[in-house]
Amino acid sequence: MTPTRHFRIASIPGDGVGSEVVAAGRQVLDALAAASHGALGFTWEEFPWGSDYHARTGKMIADDGPDRLRAFDAVYFGAVGWPTVPDHVSLWGLRLRLCQGFDQWANVRPVHFLPGITSPLRTADTTPLDWVVVRENSEGEYGGFGGRNFAGRGPGGEIAVQSAVFTEVGCERIIRFAFDLARTRDRRKVASVTKSNAQQYGMVLWDEVFARVAADYPDVETESVLVDAMAAKFVLAPQDLSVVVASNLHADILSDLAGALAGSLGLAASANLNPERRHPSMFEPVHGSAPDIAGQGVCNPIGAIGSAALMLEHFGLAQEAARVRRAIAATCASGVLTRDVGGTATTKDVTAALIDNLAD
Ligand SMILES: NC(=O)c1ccc[n+]([C@@H]2O[C@H](COP(=O)([O-])OP(=O)(O)OC[C@H]3O[C@@H](n4cnc5c(N)ncnc54)[C@H](O)[C@@H]3O)[C@@H](O)[C@H]2O)c1
Repeated sequence: MTPTRHFRIASIPGDGVGSEVVAAGRQVLDALAAASHGALGFTWEEFPWGSDYHARTGKMIADDGPDRLRAFDAVYFGAVGWPTVPDHVSLWGLRLRLCQGFDQWANVRPVHFLPGITSPLRTADTTPLDWVVVRENSEGEYGGFGGRNFAGRGPGGEIAVQSAVFTEVGCERIIRFAFDLARTRDRRKVASVTKSNAQQYGMVLWDEVFARVAADYPDVETESVLVDAMAAKFVLAPQDLSVVVASNLHADILSDLAGALAGSLGLAASANLNPERRHPSMFEPVHGSAPDIAGQGVCNPIGAIGSAALMLEHFGLAQEAARVRRAIAATCASGVLTRDVGGTATTKDVTAALIDNLAD
């Protein structure tokens, strides 16, 4: 029988722990499909792109890779980066190439505090905490503009320019996205993060767009906070956060901080969305390839499994996404934890426990 709701997913495990966590996420989604009595189906195709592929071919992705990915409903990504390839080559050659090429301009990074996980924040014991970082994912500091020159002047003479690019269109679409997201949450609030006191062009443009867009959402509370102050606020007053919208670099840093505050980078999920759906969106854990623990079977799969839940939501499968999130919470609460969150379980143990908990 053909499933009534069927999705084609391209998986790119990439490097290091990427293959371990992508395998875990696939197992969870396949278990969900198996239990759906034919209502749901996923077809996977795996692509070998990453640093090993680079060693064989000199490329991070096949020339026709982006075109082949267009045929899929979504991309499920692990991580990229390995000591054999310079990080800026691997990141630009694969992840950033896909994010920019598919105009995945909204990067959504929810921050969940899970039962059974100890947060370094004392307030997490007594205060419900839950916020989401919305990252501008197409321009800003990662626009890729700049260059290096003057190497001919000899040792010490080279210069490098790395320009950040802020367009009015780019600022407006991500800020509107953040306001629309805030309207779906209990606390209707958007905090805008910049460093417009020091960066007087691009980030002042961002501030102006934020003020203009905010006027269209009188029901949503707002604040504008400098990025250094927001870093402190994440630690000292996280209960005051709901949606935090920031530039590509700022949100990248803040979301790693948020992952650590929730207990581990291994827990943090993310969605790279092309909200207009002209191109496939891409779902990946926030963490990188973790070379220090790769291949040992001990990495935390929850960030990748949470990213699979975001992919289900993108497919319109909100109930199934909620079921995966309940299974994540139940698994953590039952104490089946990898060592980054104080446990002794392996990646496979956590995945198996989580699949058992899907049944509840
Ligand atoms: N989206 C991406 O593909 C992405 C993101 C960040 C870094 N990177 C790349 O990854 C490589 C390593 O970078 P890094 O060390 O700065 O960051 P990282 O996220 O790979 O690791 C940082 C720390 O978090 C731990 N960690 C990460 N994922 C974990 C998991 N699932 N379970 C348990 N612990 C986990 C690691 O062991 C390490 O101690 C670099 O090549 C970097 O460029 C890729």
